Amino acid sequence: MTTLDTSSSPMELRKVAAQADESVKQFVLGTFIIGLIWLIIGTLLGDIASFKLHWPNLLTSSPAMTFGRVRPVHLNTLIYGWASNVMFGISLWLMARLVRTPGRWIPSAWTGTLIWNLGLLAGVMGLFFGDTDGMEWLELRRTYADLPMIVGAAFIAASVWRTLGARQVHHLYVSVWYLAASFLWFPFIFIVGNYASQRGVENAAVNWFYAHNALGLWMTTVSLGAIYYLLPKILGRPIYSYWLSLLGFWGLAFFYSLNGMHHLIGGPLPSWMITTSIVASVMMVIPVLSVAVNHHMTMVGRFSALRYSPTLTFIVLGAMSYTGVSLQGVMQSVVEVNRVTHFTHWTVGHAHMGVYSFLTFILFGVMYYVSPRLLNREWPSAALIRWHFWLVLVGVFLYVFGLAYGGVMQGLALNATEKPFSESVAAVLPWLWVRSLAALLLTAGHFIFAYHFYLLLKSSPAKEELSPWHEISPLVVDLSGGRIESKGATV
Ligand code: HEM
Repeated sequence: MTTLDTSSSPMELRKVAAQADESVKQFVLGTFIIGLIWLIIGTLLGDIASFKLHWPNLLTSSPAMTFGRVRPVHLNTLIYGWASNVMFGISLWLMARLVRTPGRWIPSAWTGTLIWNLGLLAGVMGLFFGDTDGMEWLELRRTYADLPMIVGAAFIAASVWRTLGARQVHHLYVSVWYLAASFLWFPFIFIVGNYASQRGVENAAVNWFYAHNALGLWMTTVSLGAIYYLLPKILGRPIYSYWLSLLGFWGLAFFYSLNGMHHLIGGPLPSWMITTSIVASVMMVIPVLSVAVNHHMTMVGRFSALRYSPTLTFIVLGAMSYTGVSLQGVMQSVVEVNRVTHFTHWTVGHAHMGVYSFLTFILFGVMYYVSPRLLNREWPSAALIRWHFWLVLVGVFLYVFGLAYGGVMQGLALNATEKPFSESVAAVLPWLWVRSLAALLLTAGHFIFAYHFYLLLKSSPAKEELSPWHEISPLVVDLSGGRIESKGATV
């Protein structure tokens, strides 16, 4: 095995990076395009679901458009369509770069992505027709949707793992740990979630074992892998502490996997199951804070760079949201808090802080970084980047804080047993309007981002080759508005 290390010449490293990028280019861009199509579909369905909560008569004549169908289609298209497709692409790109070798078995990754998306499409059509497995996050039918999706995921995992196997480096950076583990854990939990044949309350336990770990051992791990790569890369300095990064990885692997039953606090499960899960949830403070301290200390002294790099801004806000959503999660795992927030829109706010201002922000950040490098051209418009950024930032802020406040008001009214149920609805109703307003801002941001990506694909390549190792110094966009600097490089 030819091995590369820090003593290898910059030219040599650059050449290897260019080869790695080139090998996965079509696949990564393909997953971005597919992901964006699902993003637009899922967003529009989310809007409809949100409007229905304050306009209950909207689109009720068609069974396919009722809340009970639109809501799971929204969730499944965004989790398995938008997020997972983009995660497939960035995982292979990151893996090839990190182990300094061209991506392997790319046709396998393509085949897997095709099968995955056909399965998802079939499942989504089934949901519109009312054909569902009836478990949250596992609504897609296990026969004609989940089975092909598992086969597809296995093909993609084979390519990621084969690339790792062909590595040209001895040392495995922490991002490699996160990525490699994600492609073991996700197929495993997806199979268990879909095919474990429990009944009744045991089925609910399996359901939340799956759904919680889909968040923690798939979406979170790929996102953390991406942050650990991009943060030091853009800042041009190493990560603060190698040991903290290992503590974060192993702490997450150990404690997160035991968290699932905190979704069923108050449910008819043995109390040891719930208690174990609450303890493990509180223990999550260890990996979460070790990641937060590590990222913060890496940033210290370089916060001004946030003004100039869309990638860095999205990545840092995403990383901060990881800390925020996790600490919020720890808090709501405590029985006294859960008694108020459970069954309210607080949980929906928490969910969007997790899958939007953490996960989706990271995906936006990575796409802003990767796409121009693969295409060897600039993002065409600084103004469109700014519009996208501010729309989604304001949108998600309104969304999360509106529902957090509204959810607590709803929960307090629900728990006041002397009051009629309708008071809990009245308490949250204004915040459902705020949520719809926020959803419109997010929708506008997504259309702008998708349009900008289309413009990027259509634009001409740069005359000179852009260095894949090019980092912060030549600036592209000042996100605070006004000044735009473009010095012919991608940040
Ligand atoms: C230490 C970390 C975390 C803890 C302890 C935690 C805790 C919780 C708890 C207790 C619930 C259930 C609330 C209820 O139904 O009453 C919940 C729901 C949820 N969490 Fe977290 N959370 C954490 C991190 C995250 C992260 C990182 C994400 C996203 C990547 C996330 C996404 C969600 C989602 C989507 C739901 C809603 C599930 C549903 O009901 O459909 N959480 N979390």
